[in-house]
Amino acid sequence: MEIRKLSNEFISQALEIYINCLNQKDLSASTLKITNSYPYNHIYIAIIRSRAVGLIDYTILQDQAYLNNIAVLPAHRHKKIASNLMETMINMCRNQNVKSLSLEVRCSNNIAINFYEKFDFIRIAKRSNLYCNPTEDGWVMSLNMQ
Ligand SMILES: CC(C)(COP(=O)(O)OP(=O)(O)OC[C@H]1O[C@@H](n2cnc3c(N)ncnc32)[C@H](O)[C@@H]1OP(=O)(O)O)[C@@H](O)C(=O)NCCC(=O)NCCS
Repeated sequence: MEIRKLSNEFISQALEIYINCLNQKDLSASTLKITNSYPYNHIYIAIIRSRAVGLIDYTILQDQAYLNNIAVLPAHRHKKIASNLMETMINMCRNQNVKSLSLEVRCSNNIAINFYEKFDFIRIAKRSNLYCNPTEDGWVMSLNMQ
């Protein structure tokens, strides 16, 4: 497996992951290209045999980072691909002197919550009705990097 910054060559494969694993049905290739072009956004993909099988997408603003999305195609889960992507992000954040990393997750998404807790993220607040389709509360989780 190789982890690589998202390039235009892999936009359509990354788009499939956003649509099928992250329910971002309205995302288009052109919007993803624009999002990927901003200097404060960082999207990395995991590649196996020339196919994108997972991605991580985060934003760094000054000394704060925000994890926007992480997902792995169902057929490739439980192989530490997300762990590799998370380690890549954490290392990049350390190199840029990020002090804290935060994220939001549906309260029912126990798999993702377990995953984040494995990396020492803690739940710091619950936001009511944060999500729609279906409506649901979300946990705000944070990792102190100091
Ligand atoms: C969450 C997700 C990214 C994990 O990807 P993955 O590559 O399978 O994860 P890893 O193999 O790196 O797992 C690392 C740890 O996460 C936790 N974890 C992963 N899958 C799990 C499961 N099905 N049940 C419980 N814990 C799980 C475990 O602690 C695991 O460590 P272990 O294998 O030593 O027990 C993946 O399930 C996914 O894409 N889910 C759908 C998208 C999503 O919900 N993203 C988060 C949105 S906020």
